[in-house]
Amino acid sequence: MYKIGVMPGDGTGPEVVAEGLKVLAAAADKYGFKYELTNYDFGGERFLKTGETLPDSAIEEFKKQDAIFLGAIGHPDVKPGILEKGILLKARFALDQYINLRPVKLYPGVETPLRDKGPEDIDYVVIRENTEGLYAGAGGFLKRGTPDEVAIQESINTRKGVERCIRYAFEYCRDRNKDMKLTLCGKTNVLTFEFDLWERAFNEVAIEYPDITTDYAHVDAICMWMVKNPEWFDVIVTDNMFGDIITDLGAMTQGGMGIAAGGNINPEGVSMFEPIGGSAPKYTGQNVINPLAAIGAMGLLLATLGEKEAAAAIEAAVAFVTGNKLKSMAAGKMGFSTSEVGDLVVELIAK
Ligand code: IPM
Ligand code: MN
Repeated sequence: MYKIGVMPGDGTGPEVVAEGLKVLAAAADKYGFKYELTNYDFGGERFLKTGETLPDSAIEEFKKQDAIFLGAIGHPDVKPGILEKGILLKARFALDQYINLRPVKLYPGVETPLRDKGPEDIDYVVIRENTEGLYAGAGGFLKRGTPDEVAIQESINTRKGVERCIRYAFEYCRDRNKDMKLTLCGKTNVLTFEFDLWERAFNEVAIEYPDITTDYAHVDAICMWMVKNPEWFDVIVTDNMFGDIITDLGAMTQGGMGIAAGGNINPEGVSMFEPIGGSAPKYTGQNVINPLAAIGAMGLLLATLGEKEAAAAIEAAVAFVTGNKLKSMAAGKMGFSTSEVGDLVVELIAK
C-alpha cells in the first residue's frame, strides 16, 4: 500500500494532477498495487488567504508518505520567489531530495526545434544536484542600498553532497543500461574550487564503475552539444545551478513544458514528482493544458517506488499518444482536451 501525498497547487496544476491520478488508478488496477492519497492544498491561493506557504507540520506529514505528486506552484498575485522558496525549495531541502532527475526524451510525433533530430537522437537524462551549490542560500549584503553595496552569493559544495549525487548518477546510468556513458558537466576552467572537488569525486567514484564510460564537458560547451549533437548523451550529472539551466534547454528540445517531467529524489527518503512547466494561469480551468508532463511525472514516481512495469507502460502509452493522437503539444492545440488526453493514456494502460 503506497501512501501518496498530492499537492495540486496553482493554476493548471489541479487539472494536470487529476489526469496523473487517473493514470495512477489505471496502472494500479492493471499491475495490482494499492495506494492511498492525501491531498494538500498548499499553493498561492492558500498563501493569499493565510500567509502560509509550506509549514513545518506539512513537512512532518510528507515524511510519512511514500511519495509526493506535485502539480504546479506559482500565482499571478503572489510576488515571484515566495512560493518557489517557501514551497518547492523548502520541500526539496527539508526532505533532503538531493537528486533532481530530468529525463530529456523526445517522444514520437513531438516537434523539436532541433532540425534533423528525432526520438533516437534525443533520449538522455540529466541528474542535477538539488540541495547545494548556489541554491544553498549562503551569502549576504554589505552596505545594501548604498553606492558601496556588495552582494555575495556563495556556491556551497560538500564532499558528501557532491559524492552522493555522483554515485546516484553512476548507479542510474548502470541501471538505465543504454549507452553506459556518464558525462560530468562543470566549469573546471573557471570555477576552480567547486569543480575541482566535483571532478576529483567523479574520477574517484568512476573507479568503482569500470563498465561505465566517463566524459566531461564544460557547461557552456554542453549547451552547444545539447543542440547540435544531443545523441552524444546518455546521462549527465551536474550541480544545482547548471542543472537548472541546462534542463530547461533540454526540455525545449524535447517539445517543451507540456511534456517535460522531473523528480526531486531522496533515494533513502520521500521523493516528489512534478511536471516542470509552470502553473500557466492563462489556461486555467479551460481543460486545454497538456497533461502529459504530469502523467510522465507519475511514471517517474512509480518507477522510483519500484513499479517498473507500470512506469514502462505509462511511458509506452505516452509515446503512443504523442505519436498517433495529438496534433501538437501546445495548450489548446492538441486536438483533444486535457481530460481526453488523460483518457487516451488510461485506455492504453488498461488494455
Ligand atoms: C526548477 C525551477 C525551480 C528551480 C524554481 C521554481 C525555484 O526552475 O525546478 O527547475 O530553480 O529549481
Ligand atoms: Mn528550472
